[in-house]
Amino acid sequence: MRTVTLDGRGDFGEWRDAARRLLVDAITPEEVGWQLSGQGGDLFGVVGEAEPGQTAPSEMVVPKGFIEAAETAICHSDPDRFSLLYRILWRLQGERNLLHVTSDADVSQLVRLIKNVRRDSHKMKAFVRFREVEAVQAGRRRFVAWFEPEHFIVSRTAGFFQRRFTDMDWLIATPKGSAAWNGEMLKTSREPAGRPEGEDETDELWRTYFANIFNPARVKIRAMQSEMPKKYWKNMPEASLIPDLIAGAERRVAEMAARQASQPPAFHERLQAHWRGRDEEEAPDLSPLERLREEAAQCTRCPLHCQATQTVFGEGPADAEILFVGEQPGDTEDLAGRPFIGPAGRVFDEAVEAAGIDRTQVYVTNAVKHFKYERRGKRRIHMRPDAGEVAHCRWWVAKEIEIIRPRIVVALGATAYLSLTGESRPIAEVRGMPIPMQEDRMLLVTTHPAAILRMPAEDLKARSLEAFRSDLQGVRRLFDTLPAPS
Ligand code: URA
Repeated sequence: MRTVTLDGRGDFGEWRDAARRLLVDAITPEEVGWQLSGQGGDLFGVVGEAEPGQTAPSEMVVPKGFIEAAETAICHSDPDRFSLLYRILWRLQGERNLLHVTSDADVSQLVRLIKNVRRDSHKMKAFVRFREVEAVQAGRRRFVAWFEPEHFIVSRTAGFFQRRFTDMDWLIATPKGSAAWNGEMLKTSREPAGRPEGEDETDELWRTYFANIFNPARVKIRAMQSEMPKKYWKNMPEASLIPDLIAGAERRVAEMAARQASQPPAFHERLQAHWRGRDEEEAPDLSPLERLREEAAQCTRCPLHCQATQTVFGEGPADAEILFVGEQPGDTEDLAGRPFIGPAGRVFDEAVEAAGIDRTQVYVTNAVKHFKYERRGKRRIHMRPDAGEVAHCRWWVAKEIEIIRPRIVVALGATAYLSLTGESRPIAEVRGMPIPMQEDRMLLVTTHPAAILRMPAEDLKARSLEAFRSDLQGVRRLFDTLPAPS
């Protein structure tokens, strides 16, 4: 009997070297025992490093799919994973299609381990909660997080955080290893880490956010616990609210039901009838967003379409996480058929970029899709759309949001705010604070970039521009603190 001792913290290379050596020596799975270091036992006959120059037999079969599967399964905390993987590797030498036999007990166990590891990794992406700590380097903010994964997933999941939180320094500590990023290098360790202490205002932000997105009408306690299992709660500041929110859900649902439902405008029924049955024949490959764009191009519901050159529909990826709503297309946009490409668009682009938001990843649209103007000589002068025009166009904006499902919606100005909420309010009253929308979505309100351009005094213009930029940085901050979509 051979005994292999591994440190067992999810290092694939460690297992692979041992397994290769066993296979070279033709040791059957029944002849080998696997143990974790520190467990004691018979270390005689431990399989060590492969000797230099010694390689596996040339006919050794290691399908590509197996390597990938083993790299994932090795991160599982099941102590039997090493023997399972060696047994499968051994069997693959004679049963080349083994991995496709999903009814096989070993294969189905392998699939189970892989699923568990992936799920744990997904939970880590969603439930890591950073806390800000004192910066060590001027100009760089520093965050720490404590997370308790079930499996050894820190190294394989660290890249996600590196891509997502590039512009801050962070450390994620877990009892199963840690990961740290300093803006240049990602370091991971498999050593158990200690729990960083302390609470900061980010914890309060999480609680506010969670209380806001909690939708009492959708409380399905079992589904909620499966998405956010209880074992993660203790490290999530917002989880302390859950019992009270559930207790108050019934009353809040009754209040919501009492509010009037918004009806789609009648013309949409007609448009749907117009397209019904033709969709598949004439536009079989259109995505829901492309189809909506086609429908909007036909919109004649309000008189604005008579004088406008064309419908200016939204633009951006169909899975954008941030969606901006402006007022209506301007002169340039009306001619080109694209939103925010004129002077206001330039102010917008510049502020978005300064906030560190990738303009190509956001969706930009308008509350009203046709240009409203009055002629003065050869010039077409912008006119603000009235509440009726905004109401007619609301349908399109709501549909865009429904399809794109952004996590954050930003209203640029009072017209956008009216379109999104049905309320007419001065921007100053609602600016800068996250307002919960349907699903897990937040609305942020700021000024319209065209309003800044129209300001007569230079100093006022400069101050408004500064405030606009700072609001967009707030959008970015909110985006960074929201959990990854599950
Ligand atoms: N202003 C808007 O609100 N939208 C545009 O597309 C251009 C200017």
